[in-house]
Amino acid sequence: MSAKKYSVVVLGAGKRGKLHAELFHQNDRFDLVGICDLDNERLQSLAATTGNPATYNDAAKMLQETKPDIFCFCTPPALRLNLFKLGADHNVKVIAYEKPMAMSISEALDIMKIAREKGIKTVVSHQHKYGEHYQQVKQIIDSGKLGRIHTVYGHCWGWYLHMATHIMDYIRFMNNNAEAEWIIGQVHGREKLTDNHPSPDWAGGFIQFVNGVRGIVEIGALSPDVPEVEYSWHKGRIGVQGTEGFAEILIGGDWRAVTKEGTVSGPGKFDYQHDQGGYIADIALWLDGVKEHPCNGESTYKGFELAMGLLRSAAQRQLVKFPLGPGEPEIEAIAKAIPEVSLTGA
Ligand SMILES: NC(=O)c1ccc[n+]([C@@H]2O[C@H](COP(=O)([O-])OP(=O)(O)OC[C@H]3O[C@@H](n4cnc5c(N)ncnc54)[C@H](O)[C@@H]3O)[C@@H](O)[C@H]2O)c1
Repeated sequence: MSAKKYSVVVLGAGKRGKLHAELFHQNDRFDLVGICDLDNERLQSLAATTGNPATYNDAAKMLQETKPDIFCFCTPPALRLNLFKLGADHNVKVIAYEKPMAMSISEALDIMKIAREKGIKTVVSHQHKYGEHYQQVKQIIDSGKLGRIHTVYGHCWGWYLHMATHIMDYIRFMNNNAEAEWIIGQVHGREKLTDNHPSPDWAGGFIQFVNGVRGIVEIGALSPDVPEVEYSWHKGRIGVQGTEGFAEILIGGDWRAVTKEGTVSGPGKFDYQHDQGGYIADIALWLDGVKEHPCNGESTYKGFELAMGLLRSAAQRQLVKFPLGPGEPEIEAIAKAIPEVSLTGA
């Protein structure tokens, strides 16, 4: 008997929507029944590479006519809650969408409330962890060769609202998705606050996890360079230190570990096709009941909470404890807190 097929629609025919739609189309567990964008040129060009599904300019019409199992949307971050509500109103089983999951904790809490009440499975695209380098290092941690893990860290260049939830998700992954107790953060610079991913130019912070592990993160322009990697968006590092060794992953490729047995290293690469393909295949397995998706919404929310907790801490100039409740949108709060004119010249 052939495996069950799930129907899917994709909204957004930009860079990310195109990749999602093409990979759903190429995977025989899915039937891509509709795509939607406001831009007809993008829409028609995507239809041509995805088997000519029905095309729409209106999300509600698409959901009403196609009644899909899965609603996938890949839009800039300001469009989340309303699209999420629309999917819920049309009784989809899965909502798969892009990071960051929201623009604030209050919005993320509203999304989670709808998902929990309606029993919707949600998936957010922190797909890097499907990379071979992430998987190899995770295996070494799980083997116990690093001893007791005491520190996890992550840093990268790029915009905070683009990259912070990736970094938080991957340090959580390395730390077995342990809960966090508190965070202390600091931010610097206003230049990127007007972007469609509004962000401080740099942010850094310290996290205390309940299992005793310390997390250290830095995101943005003042974060350390990773000279081994050329492309600026891939200049990031995720690392783990234990009582008997350490291991690290370069976001742009390769990994290494040093244990009592010696040094081991191997290749890896930032590969959208490979990583997103695994992420999409796991949506079918989650719907089948075979396994929970590694990018599931509950876990995503915890990483998002870390990212927003750091900003709240910076705005309030004090330690912030988890779980977070609703509050002033964090980006607005730090926009008030960061001086208009840099006092340091940096
Ligand atoms: N997971 C990753 O590795 C990764 C990488 C890059 C970007 N992203 C995220 O992906 C998201 C989208 O990025 P992108 O580069 O594809 O953006 P994009 O701007 O290229 O594409 C968005 C598309 O959505 C369409 N759109 C917007 N509002 C719409 C509406 N109401 N109805 C129909 N269509 C609508 C736009 O016309 C556009 O074609 C962002 O949140 C970004 O942070 C994720």
